[in-house]
Amino acid sequence: MSKRYERLERCYSCFKEKISFTPDVALILGSGLGDYADSITQTAVLDYKDIDSFPVSTVAGHKGRFVFGYIGDVKVVIMQGRVHYYEGYSMEDVVLPVRLMKLMGARVLFLTNAAGGVNFNYHAGDFMLISDQICMAPSPLIGENIDELGVRFPDMSNIYDRDLRDIVRSTAKSLNIPLQEGVYIQLTGPNYESPAEIRMVRTLGADAVGMSTACEAIAANHCGLKTVGISCISNLACGITDKPLTHAEVQETADRAAPLFKQLITESVVNIAKKLD
Ligand code: HPA
Repeated sequence: MSKRYERLERCYSCFKEKISFTPDVALILGSGLGDYADSITQTAVLDYKDIDSFPVSTVAGHKGRFVFGYIGDVKVVIMQGRVHYYEGYSMEDVVLPVRLMKLMGARVLFLTNAAGGVNFNYHAGDFMLISDQICMAPSPLIGENIDELGVRFPDMSNIYDRDLRDIVRSTAKSLNIPLQEGVYIQLTGPNYESPAEIRMVRTLGADAVGMSTACEAIAANHCGLKTVGISCISNLACGITDKPLTHAEVQETADRAAPLFKQLITESVVNIAKKLD
């Protein structure tokens, strides 16, 4: 057994000792969206700090715990706060929670984030269904492969599952919530981009930019977790307006968009679960 898998098993044993719950859908909540977990029917909570060998996030506004419970009658695990590469963790640390949620039994990973709008047609407060991604951070799969989870050279042609995207799209439509659709690019951060970098990523085909998500989606695809993702466009990316970017602005817009975002997530999860056999 690889050292990486041994570590994962240690985390999993810790979880199993404390929690008896098998989630179907795993969710990761981005900046400003964390309190969604407080609104679901909770059955248990597990602080990251109480899990042996688990990385603990340092970002203000990010709680650090798994919340277990129900969205409608769907069994979910929600990560309230994620770990970011820019905090100084290795990519292995960053994606460990995704792998752990796979071991917990989750079959779908629902990723959310706050992102900067690169596409000129986007506005602050828009939601974007992620159709595909560009990962400019190092791949989380570098290093010894965890054969227990997946193959050395995994396919990435359908990272954001087509069927799940169809469900989210039709859910948004039925709720009358406008939904953009586009490519998310992950840079390492923690600095926001320069205007020249935003021009570059637009040329590369990105519609939204952020500091998370793509690496988690790669790890999820590697271990066979079907993935879907939505960005909350919290600001227009650098250079589109003259205003300097602040984390407070990102947080404020995400907070304002949160009620609608929560509605979209809730209904999407319920509709996705209907299609799980
Ligand atoms: N750039 C990078 N990450 C972000 C942004 C941005 O403009 N907004 C929210 N996360």
